[in-house]
Amino acid sequence: MHFSFLSIFLVLTAVAHAQQPIHLIPQPVSVQPQPGQFRLNRATTITYSKPELATLAALLAGQLTGQTGLTLTSKATSAPSVNAIALVLTTTPDAKLGREGYRFNSSAKGVVITANQPAGLFYGAQTLLQLMSSARTQTDVPDANSFKSAPLEQTVPGVQIVDYPRFGWRGVMLDVSRSFFPKADMLRYIDELAALKINTLHWHLTDDNGWRIEIKALPRLTSVGAWRVPREGHFGERTNPRPGEAATYGGFYTQDEVREIVRYALARNITIVPEIDVPGHSMAILAAYPELSCTKDTSTRVNPGTQFSEWYANGTFKMLVDNTLNPANEAVYTLLDNVFTEVAALFPGQYIHAGGDECYHGYWAKDPGCQALMAKEGFLKVEELQGYFMKRVEKIINAKGKKFMGWDEILEGGVSPSATVMSWRGMKGGIEAAKNGHDVVMSPTTFAYLDYMQSDPTLEPRIYSSLRLKTCYEFEPVPAGTDSTRILGGQGNLWTEQIPTLSHAEYMLFPRVWALSEVFWSPQNRRNWADFVPRLEAQMERAEEAGINYSRAVYDPIVTVAMADNKLTAMLDTELPGTEIYYSIDDTMPGRYSLRYTQPLLIPEGNVTLRAITYRNGKTAGRQLTLKRDELVKRASK
Ligand code: ACM
Repeated sequence: MHFSFLSIFLVLTAVAHAQQPIHLIPQPVSVQPQPGQFRLNRATTITYSKPELATLAALLAGQLTGQTGLTLTSKATSAPSVNAIALVLTTTPDAKLGREGYRFNSSAKGVVITANQPAGLFYGAQTLLQLMSSARTQTDVPDANSFKSAPLEQTVPGVQIVDYPRFGWRGVMLDVSRSFFPKADMLRYIDELAALKINTLHWHLTDDNGWRIEIKALPRLTSVGAWRVPREGHFGERTNPRPGEAATYGGFYTQDEVREIVRYALARNITIVPEIDVPGHSMAILAAYPELSCTKDTSTRVNPGTQFSEWYANGTFKMLVDNTLNPANEAVYTLLDNVFTEVAALFPGQYIHAGGDECYHGYWAKDPGCQALMAKEGFLKVEELQGYFMKRVEKIINAKGKKFMGWDEILEGGVSPSATVMSWRGMKGGIEAAKNGHDVVMSPTTFAYLDYMQSDPTLEPRIYSSLRLKTCYEFEPVPAGTDSTRILGGQGNLWTEQIPTLSHAEYMLFPRVWALSEVFWSPQNRRNWADFVPRLEAQMERAEEAGINYSRAVYDPIVTVAMADNKLTAMLDTELPGTEIYYSIDDTMPGRYSLRYTQPLLIPEGNVTLRAITYRNGKTAGRQLTLKRDELVKRASK
């Protein structure tokens, strides 16, 4: 009896003294564990070295309340204090840290975060929040006072960190046209990105499926353009509006809401880059102002997700409904001038993104006005009208005091060297743009399209392509031979055709945006998949505690197949080293008492089904993959 008491005591003591693991995403430049740990309690204060940091201190206090339930007091002082979280601005700049870097020191005495700028202090604070032992949030505990009787035990391991970003553009795009995300969703999204040291939110505000920003001079853009008929079901396969059917799905941000969202983001070191996507993707504009297309089709409606384009194997496409602005109509430029005047006034950042992607030129080619413009300008190919259009848009944007950027198609018609190019059709547009002296943001489909499936197509809602976590992690934004000073950074893009809710947006973002945040922030030589995996799993646990809907697709079995001499072989794998795979081909449910996968499987002829499941640390990890032989044969022939 006494003996077992003693052993329990010894075990507990050992646990209490074990260094809490340090699991940070993105991985800092340098992490030096040191003895001791900081205990956060009701007496902890936040101190700040300059009065102008009061807002930042209040923001951190709010985040800490959210995570711990503790309401900490803060005060301006540069005197060292015990049991404090000190936010300290350098008096002489620390060249290593730049604008966004920070130094972090935690010990039994307290936490000191030092930086040249408030942005660095904010990032030091985000590191602190990740280092705390629990990520439980306020939403789980609505009454902060309940902690007074039973405070959450929060400790921070002793550590010295020096940290600063690799890239200045660490972006994530959200498409709010295909699905509308109200202000509250935007604020939560911003919080989630800021925690990962993402500093750019590209806001895709307009497309064929809805115009989402109030423009006071052009009320029809939102009174008509923000609303479409309600439809469920797979996007791109939905039915057209019926005659007279009310357009009840949609919404838009008022200018007051935009200002609030921009301010909220800026306080978290996130610049919002607004995108007005023209001259293609403009059906919502044309629903409001049909006279601005070549076809002037007055039956144009905001599209509810019907199929209105055809895509061909050679990469070309055709719009079955005209969704393009007419580059030969001066009224188009007048409208855009009005739009960009108001957009420029709402967004303090230096960039406005004007799209330019996937613009179909078929209606332009048939239009007498476009032909006359081509003759006047001496254009031989209709594609040159796109260059003409984008150059005029760039002039308008520059005249509002902003820099112009667009998708890589803007290179095709010729664009001025001052334009910044966002490379999405792989890296090649970005490589070419950098060669020609453009600034570039890399956001290729191959590594950064967060709307793609994360796992086997039979296990995920159907999308036309896939992107696994490990591939995201392997993204290298600076291709060999490219002038790295031209690569501003990288960006993950979340298109929302198939993402109707914020919860599903989270499922698509996490964990892939964790991987991307590390690609964008951490030194290239600190990036290592095997090292990332335990941090990934720790982050998943924190997401669980925080009520964030992340995907566990990374645990799913992966099957590849080969057919040779009429023999079908299946290979099973997982993304995470150390995961066990069990399978059956005898119509039994697979589990840890089934066959363990160790080598390629010969799949016998007949009506055979392969079932596979993964285990990690003795527990089921991923979803069960179930594939009939016919499906495997089909895949082998691809
Ligand atoms: C794009 O994905 N159309 C930029």
